[in-house]
Amino acid sequence: MNKTIIVSNRLPLQVKIENNALNIKPSVGGLATGLKSVHEEGNGIWIGWSGLTEEELDKDLSNQVNKEVTKAKCATVPLTQDDVDNFYFGFSNKTLWPLFHYFMEYTEFDNDQWEAYKTVNQKFADVILENIEDGDTVWVHDYQLLLLPKLIKDKKPNTTIGFFLHIPYPSYEIFRTFPWREELLHGMLGADLLGFHTYDYERHFLSSVKRILRLDVQFNEISYLDRVVKVDSFPMGIDYNKFHNAALSHLNQSNTEKSELQKRLDDHIQAGPDTKLILSIDRMDYTKGIPNRIRAFEYFLNKYPQFKEKVRLVMLAVPSRSDVPQYQKLKRETDELVGRVNGEFSTVSWTPIWYFYRSMPFDNLIDLYTSSQIALITPVRDGMNLVAKEYIATRVNQDGVLILSEMAGASKEMNEALLINPNNFEQLADTLKHAIEMPAEEQSKRIKILQKRLQRYSVEKWAEEFMKSLNDTKKIGKTIVAK
Ligand code: ADP
Ligand code: G6P
Repeated sequence: MNKTIIVSNRLPLQVKIENNALNIKPSVGGLATGLKSVHEEGNGIWIGWSGLTEEELDKDLSNQVNKEVTKAKCATVPLTQDDVDNFYFGFSNKTLWPLFHYFMEYTEFDNDQWEAYKTVNQKFADVILENIEDGDTVWVHDYQLLLLPKLIKDKKPNTTIGFFLHIPYPSYEIFRTFPWREELLHGMLGADLLGFHTYDYERHFLSSVKRILRLDVQFNEISYLDRVVKVDSFPMGIDYNKFHNAALSHLNQSNTEKSELQKRLDDHIQAGPDTKLILSIDRMDYTKGIPNRIRAFEYFLNKYPQFKEKVRLVMLAVPSRSDVPQYQKLKRETDELVGRVNGEFSTVSWTPIWYFYRSMPFDNLIDLYTSSQIALITPVRDGMNLVAKEYIATRVNQDGVLILSEMAGASKEMNEALLINPNNFEQLADTLKHAIEMPAEEQSKRIKILQKRLQRYSVEKWAEEFMKSLNDTKKIGKTIVAK
């Protein structure tokens, strides 16, 4: 039977070694959490990096990793410490990530890292070629693997290849600054279908293809060599039922079943009729607008002092890419800002910000989503943002308010949220007040529409539509070649 091979840098599970034993955790981040359910239900395999380097693995550990990974229907690409330094922390996260998120001032152009990027993309291609059979479909994901579609197409021209970018695609004016722009575009065009979260990203990509490669683009189809490459937008959804059902069973928890976190959250909620929890959840990343959010919350407390001792910002940040200096700087800045705001406003019975810097198990995420009357999601740039969607899915009583940055891809499908510009503190403070005071009927009206949309366009549907479009594209391609 033909299979689909999913390929991404990060596998859905992340392996670490602690006290000489393997520690396996689910990966964090939209790509892994979103695609996980699609993969679990399919008959394919997922190829990616385990999170460990070759140097960390002796024969015995390596066998153990392979066993665990195979059990999860995955296969690993072996990466050395040098690969991780130059390809992952290096080119992927010091060049492509900041550039594609419009952080030009953080973007490094380093030829050695570019070479490492090419080498590692080839390593991924080698593992795919070992696992592929005639008739299989390959679905490549994200910015770490932009050269991979071409590497596979060159070796296996008949393979159907899809590519999906989980981050923004920047405007031509940004992309044109990239020194290896032609090669990167040719790498992507090895795919038969290229998918983006939003129409804007798709449009930016097509503009780069037209202006840099001077290719003929008709509507959303690119004539490329003897093929047609289709480009389209597919806004990624979430496993709606998983979040919704988890929240439903949460409602029926007895006191003894509740987690310690839930009990602490309950204490706050029960402190008074007008107390509110404001939630934010992100990877600790400079694109997520964390310092802006804390400053805006401080501004809000000064502008509307009547909410002191009533509202609390619960901020969960999961450690991410901590070998990259900008992420270390952001961590220090966040610690300082949280300290400053808590130092300035805390009373004996109230701390304005609860700050957790760690990954949390799924049940605790549900504790947070279901206990918070407001979600405050303020990225300065974000490809999609699944947290916004997860929050809505867990609001089983149709109450709660989502405040969402218009810079997140998700805002394009979530007009019923309160959309804000994350750099406008005045607007953010006023929107927070609006959210706190929003009547129940209005909350319910907005949430119901959002839920309906998210339920209809779940992550399963997203994958299904991508695959359908990929198969159609392949058919069109064949007809044109046959003419
Ligand atoms: P990104 O892909 O940039 O990390 P998204 O919002 O699209 O941003 O996806 C983040 C995913 O990671 C969500 O599915 C969310 O539930 C999960 N996540 C975020 N923070 C944590 C955390 N502290 N612990 C566990 N999972 C988290
Ligand atoms: C975003 C990216 C993913 C990445 C994830 C976590 O969602 O689009 O490709 O896997 O962040 O980042 P990490 O560097 O830990 O894989």
